[in-house]
Amino acid sequence: MLAGAKTRTARAREYLMCPPERFTVEYAINPWMDTDRPVDTELAVKQWRGLRETLVRLGHTVHTLDPVAGLPDMVYAANGAFTVDGHVYGARFRYEQRRAEAAHHRAWYLAHGWSDFHIPEHTNEGEGDFAYANGLVLAGYGFRTTVAAHAEAQEALGRPVISLRLVDPRFYHLDTALAALDDETVAYWPGAFSPASQRVLAQLFPDALIADEADALAFGLNLVSDSRHVVLNSAASGLVGKLAARGYEPVPVELAELLKGGGSVKCCIAELRR
Ligand code: ARG
Repeated sequence: MLAGAKTRTARAREYLMCPPERFTVEYAINPWMDTDRPVDTELAVKQWRGLRETLVRLGHTVHTLDPVAGLPDMVYAANGAFTVDGHVYGARFRYEQRRAEAAHHRAWYLAHGWSDFHIPEHTNEGEGDFAYANGLVLAGYGFRTTVAAHAEAQEALGRPVISLRLVDPRFYHLDTALAALDDETVAYWPGAFSPASQRVLAQLFPDALIADEADALAFGLNLVSDSRHVVLNSAASGLVGKLAARGYEPVPVELAELLKGGGSVKCCIAELRR
């Protein structure tokens, strides 16, 4: 930590992850996916285990969802639902290739005591497009989740939902461009948002960590924070320094194989908020 920076306090978290034993890139539904580029599934599993062990070492509880044959993107467990205050808003995937994942997530939540599970009518990709910060649900739209789902989520969760328009196809989910760092603030790259949504973010989070395009392109904003330790893709070296300057403890992890599907740390982790 740098001199003068604030000391941050970690809070133990509960997460849900799904191992990439079935991970491949056999269709392309975002600009990062290239079906001609081979995937090393074994390496993906090894990197994923490193991420899981990092979270456990930091004192967090990690639950595991079993992977299912024919659902290669299931490793991106963040997309299966969004939770806050013990309420669960289920996912409804935009693309046919991922649609069946939603029921597996739902079964997991119901089997683990999350009885207040809302089956959505509207298209939404769970924590891919929903984040929680400062008592608010921040919600992305423009590529996957629809605005109608934002209103539906507010009714399901009882928290104010703030709609933010994503405009850059490389950052097709909110969690590729914005992340909660703690209960008060977020980090984001403004260029991924419409000018009006940038103004909304500036109003709500005047102290936000403003990342740049290189941080976002390195999937640095696809991070998971416990309010002190910030677990992020090791390629995002620029963001590491910015986090440290604010008193966070960056914890870089190597996750390059999962980038071939268009995801990194956050995509692999759903946070369970009771
Ligand atoms: N291949 C997946 C898709 O395009 C990647 C999902 C990444 N997940 C995320 N939370 N951003 O749907």
